[in-house]
Amino acid sequence: MTTAIIGTGGLGSVIARQLASGGETLRLSSADSKSARTLAAQIGRAAVVAVDNSDALQGADAVVLALRFTVLKGVIDELAGPLAGKLAVVPSNPLTADAQGNVSRVLPEGQASGEVVAGWLPAGTRLAMAFGTMSAGLFESSSHRSPEPAVLFYVTDDDRAGEETERLIRTAGFEPVKAGGLEQSGRLEVGGDLHDLVVGPAEARSLIAGA
Ligand SMILES: NC(=O)c1ccc[n+]([C@@H]2O[C@H](COP(=O)([O-])OP(=O)(O)OC[C@H]3O[C@@H](n4cnc5c(N)ncnc54)[C@H](OP(=O)(O)O)[C@@H]3O)[C@@H](O)[C@H]2O)c1
Repeated sequence: MTTAIIGTGGLGSVIARQLASGGETLRLSSADSKSARTLAAQIGRAAVVAVDNSDALQGADAVVLALRFTVLKGVIDELAGPLAGKLAVVPSNPLTADAQGNVSRVLPEGQASGEVVAGWLPAGTRLAMAFGTMSAGLFESSSHRSPEPAVLFYVTDDDRAGEETERLIRTAGFEPVKAGGLEQSGRLEVGGDLHDLVVGPAEARSLIAGA
């Protein structure tokens, strides 16, 4: 199947490589297309560079918006038409950094980023918050773990989005575990109790059940 990856930086490039190694066909897009072109050349035939963000969605079954939270709404607004009817997977943590590198949350304490993103999306878009639950390096080193696969947590309010996201998570070499609805997205983000955890399915389910 085909997935669009918009944003081919630190995280988007790792997601793209893992999905391509699992057999997914990719359509890549970035701000100025240079990083998308470099990544497509590394991946080979499974990846093509789209003309722009909108073109990336043409023929794609799903889109991963691997963008900083502060640019996410602008790209969603730009894509309102083509996004409707698609699965949107959002790994963004609601963070920003100042010139000194100090990181802060851009949403009020307790406000779930998943619910905020859902409010930005056009009607008919199926949303899952996923693939942003580990640092890029940990994500890359934990995929295809053996003998027990590592879990990638996700949240969604939409059953079909859940099924589609689980397929993508398995394609990337992880076992999917749903951590709840979008209101639970804070558990997945930096500072959340499920962030940067490398656990197997049994431990993951007990963490969810014990919350
Ligand atoms: N990096 C991690 O370890 C990690 C882990 C978990 C979650 N996350 C989350 O993942 C998101 C991305 O993080 P990152 O580290 O990958 O950031 P990044 O390295 O800065 O990459 C951001 C990407 O977004 C692209 N971009 C910016 N504006 C765009 C636009 N208008 N249209 C299309 N593409 C645009 C950039 O394009 P150019 O390449 O052309 O500049 C770049 O490829 C963040 O929200 C972060 O919280 C990151």
